[in-house]
Amino acid sequence: MTQPIELQELLMSRKSIRKYKPMISVQYIEELLESAFHAPTTGNMQLYSVIINQDEKMKELLAPTHFNQGAFREAPVTLTFCADYNRFIKWCEYRNAKPGYDNFLSFMTAAMDALLVAQTFCLLAESKGYGTCYLGTTLYNAESIAQILKLPKFVVPIITLSVGIPNEEAKQQDRLPAKALIHHEVYEEYSEKYIDRIYQEKEELPDSHKFVKENGKETLAQVYTDVRYKKEDNEAFSAKLLDFLKKQGFMQ
Ligand SMILES: Cc1cc2nc3c(=O)[nH]c(=O)nc-3n(C[C@H](O)[C@H](O)[C@H](O)COP(=O)(O)O)c2cc1C
Repeated sequence: MTQPIELQELLMSRKSIRKYKPMISVQYIEELLESAFHAPTTGNMQLYSVIINQDEKMKELLAPTHFNQGAFREAPVTLTFCADYNRFIKWCEYRNAKPGYDNFLSFMTAAMDALLVAQTFCLLAESKGYGTCYLGTTLYNAESIAQILKLPKFVVPIITLSVGIPNEEAKQQDRLPAKALIHHEVYEEYSEKYIDRIYQEKEELPDSHKFVKENGKETLAQVYTDVRYKKEDNEAFSAKLLDFLKKQGFMQ
């Protein structure tokens, strides 16, 4: 089945927005969320909750957990999408049903539900003229965020979305050629030559040259490995996250 053309056009021109006008109708955001809640979920269990933050005091508390990113600080509203087995487990217990959701698979299941509903909301909000930006910092500091948002056991914040009326003309970001991401029947391994070819356009962008120069690196890939997403950071945040997942009741 083909997509309605409007959605396809939206996707082909969309971009993350990090600067917003101060006003927003939270009631309308809730309406859009209600529609997004029709996203598919595992067994229709809807293993997610969304925390809406617009209170200045809460934003002050949360901002450092997002490393004070402008996209968080400037947003009139942020939505934190959480993997949530708490509500479902309670329902099971009150109905004399024994839940078996204290494990990693169940965490992944709820995390997938949360992401699917987040992206459904994201596209819907963008189709209505809102700008959005995901904040991956949520997983880095999940425990601190959970404390501030008072998340109980079996609830883990997965991703935060800042939302607002755009106040910038953001540049559209490049994408790898679609062909490079699609495999027919089985995975086709990437030869060095093919890697050269599919990353060429990205590497030749003026912004890429700028990042390499600014960071004193030889290649764009080094900007990722040595500056943006470093091994030591990934390992430290992984350990923190695993520890928190245990505390929240998953990984038993
Ligand atoms: C899981 C996830 C985490 C992200 N985290 C951040 C973030 O912490 N800060 C930010 O400015 N953008 C963040 N982004 C936005 C990406 O940088 C952006 O989607 C990507 O550069 C492509 O740009 P585009 O969305 O404008 O096409 C995140 C996006 C995703 C999907």
